[in-house]
Amino acid sequence: MKILLGITGGIAAYKTPQLVRLLVKKGHNVRVILTEKAKDFVTPLTLSTLSKEPVLSDFATIDGQWNSHVALAQWADLLLIAPATANTIAKMASGQCDNLLLATYFSAKKPVWVAPAMDLDMYAHPTVTENLIKLERFGNHIIPATYGELASGLVGQGRMAEPEDIVASIETALQETLPLKDRKILITAGPTYQAIDPVRFIGNFSTGKMGIAIANEAVRQGAEVHLVLGPSAEKNIDNKIHLHRVVSAQQMYEAAVAQFETCDMAILAAAVADYTPAEVAAQKIKKKGDKLTLTLIPTIDILASLGKLKTTQKLIGFALETENEVENAQLKLQKKNLDAIVLNSLRDKGAGFGTDTNKITFITAQQLQEFPLKHKEAVAKDILQKCMSL
Ligand code: CTP
Repeated sequence: MKILLGITGGIAAYKTPQLVRLLVKKGHNVRVILTEKAKDFVTPLTLSTLSKEPVLSDFATIDGQWNSHVALAQWADLLLIAPATANTIAKMASGQCDNLLLATYFSAKKPVWVAPAMDLDMYAHPTVTENLIKLERFGNHIIPATYGELASGLVGQGRMAEPEDIVASIETALQETLPLKDRKILITAGPTYQAIDPVRFIGNFSTGKMGIAIANEAVRQGAEVHLVLGPSAEKNIDNKIHLHRVVSAQQMYEAAVAQFETCDMAILAAAVADYTPAEVAAQKIKKKGDKLTLTLIPTIDILASLGKLKTTQKLIGFALETENEVENAQLKLQKKNLDAIVLNSLRDKGAGFGTDTNKITFITAQQLQEFPLKHKEAVAKDILQKCMSL
């Protein structure tokens, strides 16, 4: 999420580097607007280092560029003003607009969060109370100041909420608004390795990128995601995903079945081996003769098994085809008792294993929709959106 942090001139500004750090650690992109007075309490260099973005203060930059408050407000998914002084709160409540932060606030259409901080008597003053009520009435979210020792040495309510609590308040509220909240989704991804002997296996070229992109997107949209992942070197896996690492088709089957009953939806994107060696040699097979024959037996079909177990869950499979693509995919849809199947054709350039792009056709019993070639992240969004409409 893109978060614009406005910092105003109160002593609590000294806690904002920690706030930036926490937000960045949670995976948010943070840009900072610092008012002139705030610079007395925290340096732009500290904040730009932590946010990895230049810190903005004025409409004009030193090299004569224009910081557009409208563009900034449009960039942000959320505006957080912390600490918010009595002065800034009063201006926000009365429509005064005499700096970049206030101009950005008045241009913002996205949620605005305000964490006030001031001395206890200021915080208790009826104008401040009234202004905060007004801001709430305008649709802003207030994170109340907390009780404790204040910079003046007095003890009372006025301390800015701790950075951890500000981040938690925002994340909890955001979670509530996410489209896939309270949904549990099972995703399989990656190849499987079927052991031949202690050093060799039968595998395939799948990288797991498509399934992982779907898992990352589902988690971003608030779902509880269980990703059953075969051997994959991909690192870009959201840490909120429940990751079940497996190697063989049998292990993938067991991990998937264990989650399926309590799921709302399962999307099986893994490239599972269809056959496995009938026996795994206990010792490394030695080279002898000019021919080696391996006997292979079928693996369990995970997708078909879940199709049989299915009650209220939506079940979506993948089909990677090289010829008669649509007919083959439609047959799999029926045979495996699926709600939908995502078709990839190896004949399409930029689709399939190892690429960062994919081109899919989403097929249900009633309809078929072709999508253009897109980045796998964008394809993941399309797939989830179609799956949610099933
Ligand atoms: N699949 C699975 N378990 C297997 C084999 C496949 O869950 N043992 C799933 C894949 O994850 C994918 C779908 O089945 O969602 C399609 O796999 P694919 O290999 O294309 O289909 P098959 O039914 O094996 O048909 P074929 O190999 O004849 O094309």
